Amino acid sequence: MCGIVGAVAQRNVVPVLLEGLQRLEYRGYDSAGLVVVDDAKLKRLRSTGRVAELIQISAGTEGRLGIAHTRWATHGIPSERNAHPHLSKDLIAVVHNGIIENYETLRGRLTRAGYEFTSDTDTEVIAHLVHSHYVSGMPLLRALQLSLTELVGAYAIGVIAADNPDLLVCARRGSPLLLGIGIGENFIASDVSALLPVTNKVVYLEEGDVVEISRQGYQIYNAAGVETTRPVQVSEISNESVQLGNYRHYMQKEIHEQPEAISNTLESACNSQSIMPGIFGAEAEASFANVDSLLILACGTSYHAGLVARYWLEEIAGVQCTVEIASEYRYRASVPNPRALVVVLSQSGETADTQAALSHAKSLGHIYSLAICNVPESALVRQTKLRFLTRAGPEIGVASTKAFTTQLVALFLLTLVLAKQRNRLTAECEQQHLHALRHLPAATQKVLDLEPKIEKLAERFASKHHALFLGRGLHYPIALEGALKLKEISYIHAEAYPAGELKHGPLALVDKDMPVISVAPNDALLEKLKSNLHEVRARGGELYVFADANTHIQEEDGVHIMHMPEHAGYLSPILHTIPLQLLAYYVALQKGTDVDKPRNLAKSVTVE
Ligand code: AGP
Repeated sequence: MCGIVGAVAQRNVVPVLLEGLQRLEYRGYDSAGLVVVDDAKLKRLRSTGRVAELIQISAGTEGRLGIAHTRWATHGIPSERNAHPHLSKDLIAVVHNGIIENYETLRGRLTRAGYEFTSDTDTEVIAHLVHSHYVSGMPLLRALQLSLTELVGAYAIGVIAADNPDLLVCARRGSPLLLGIGIGENFIASDVSALLPVTNKVVYLEEGDVVEISRQGYQIYNAAGVETTRPVQVSEISNESVQLGNYRHYMQKEIHEQPEAISNTLESACNSQSIMPGIFGAEAEASFANVDSLLILACGTSYHAGLVARYWLEEIAGVQCTVEIASEYRYRASVPNPRALVVVLSQSGETADTQAALSHAKSLGHIYSLAICNVPESALVRQTKLRFLTRAGPEIGVASTKAFTTQLVALFLLTLVLAKQRNRLTAECEQQHLHALRHLPAATQKVLDLEPKIEKLAERFASKHHALFLGRGLHYPIALEGALKLKEISYIHAEAYPAGELKHGPLALVDKDMPVISVAPNDALLEKLKSNLHEVRARGGELYVFADANTHIQEEDGVHIMHMPEHAGYLSPILHTIPLQLLAYYVALQKGTDVDKPRNLAKSVTVE
C-alpha cells in the first residue's frame, strides 16, 4: 500500500527518494510524488503513472531535504491532484500513510478558517492543521504534535517546511514507520527495503512516537511527549535479497526460492532430534500447557494457511481449532474462550485487519497469543507473547507464494509440538514427521521441475474467463489458494469448492468453456474425488488434474493429468500448492498482466 521515504542530507536527496520509491513499488500504488526544499521553496513533482515517470520529470530537481510517497487510493480517485505530498500554502508539505477518520469534520473547520482544499484526500487536512499551528509561531515538531491530538485514525506521517531546510519531522500511530541512520544524513521510510542502498541501521518507531530529524541526529518523543530512546537495529535484510537477479518477475523468483525458504524455516526445528516448544518462544511450553483450543486469525493467503492447519491440528494434535477471516472476526460478536491460543498469521506483519483482530481478541480477554510472521520487526510480532518467524526472506511479488508454504511449515511444527505435549505423538511418529520435514525442500524442488509442462498447459487458459478449482479435505484450502492466485494476477474469475459440494450448485456452471482444476492427492478421499471428477466429465467439463503417483486417473480426451512426483502424506498440501502457483504465473504471462503488481492490489494492506 502507500509508501513513504524521506531524507535530510548534505547531498541532493532526489535520487535517494526516487530509488526508495522504486523499492516500495511492490507494495502497490497508483500515483507517486516527491517534494524537496530548495532555496526556501517547496518544489513538488507528482505523477499518476509509475515511479519511472516521476524519474523522468524530476531531471534538474535538487534539494537536501525532501519527502516522497507512493499512493494507493482510499479517499479520492487516483489522480495527480490527489497524489502526495500535499501542501499547505506552499509552506508545509506532508506525506501520509493510513486513514484519518474524522477528516470531514476537520475539513469543514479548516475551510471555515480560510484554508483552500485542492484534493479529495483525508491527508490534506494534516497539512493545513500543521500549517495553522506552525504560523502561530510554534516549532515544526510542536505543530505536528498538536495536530496529532486532533486526528482520529491511523497514520505514518512525514512533514517538512519550506523555511526550515534542515528539519524533517514524522509520527506514527497504526501504520509502520522507521528511521534510517546514516553518517551526516538521516532518513525515514515505511519499509526498510526503501533505505537499504543508503543504510541498514534502523530504528523502528513505536505507536505514538513523534520524531525530529536533522542531518546530525534525531530526538524521539513518545505518545506522552516525553523524550525517549528506541534501539538502533541492523536490518538483516540484505540489499541483494530484494534484487530480481535472473528471474523475469519477483513472483517467479519467489516460487523458485521455496526449497531454500522451507529449509531455512525448518532450521531451528530440525537441527535437533526432537521438536521443542521453545521454537515458539521461551514461554511457549507453559502457555501451550494451559490452552485448550486455537483461534487462528488471518487474511487472504495467510487465512488459507490457517484453514490447512485446522485439519492438521484437529487430526494430529486433537486440539479444537477455529479459523476466522480477521476483517470479519474484528466486528463479530463472538463468544471468547480465554483458554484459546490466538494465532495470527501474516507475511507482512502489518496487515491492518489482522492487527485489529488481535487487539479485539485481547480486549475480549484472550491472554495467549502467537504470531507466525515473515517480517521480524513487524507490528504484529511485537504485539504477541509468542512468535515464530518464517524465514522466507523478503517477499516482493504481491501474490504471496513462499510466505504461504513457509507458514504451512510453521503450522505443521506447531501441530507436532501440541500433539507431543498432549501425548498424541509417539517417538516413532515424531521421527517420521521429522524425516518428512527434512525431505521437504528436496520434494519441493522436484515439483518445481514440472515448470516447463505447466508453462505449456497455461496456454490453454489464456482465453478463458472463468475457472473452477476443486480439492477435498486438507487440499480444499489449496484449491482456494490456487483460485486466489489465478484471479489476483491473471484477472480470470476463479472459484474453489470442496469437490463434494459440486452437485449442490456449482455443477450448473460446468460446460466445455469452464476449465476445472483439481488437486488429487493419493489420500483417503481419492475415490470420492474421482467420483466428483466423473460428474464434471459427464457435463463436458475440461479437467486439469494435479495427481499424485498411483492415483490411476487416466489421461483421456478432456482430461489432462499433471503427475506430481511423490506423495508427501500430511505435508502434501505444501507440494500441491506449487503447481497452482506456477499455473497462475504462466497464465498471467500469457495474458501480459503486471505479474508483480497486479491492478488494484497492494502487498501490505495497512488500511482497513
Ligand atoms: C496473497 O497473494 C495476497 N496478496 C493477500 O491475500 C495477502 O495474503 C493478505 O493481504 C494478507 O497479507 P499478510 O499475510 O501480509 O497479512
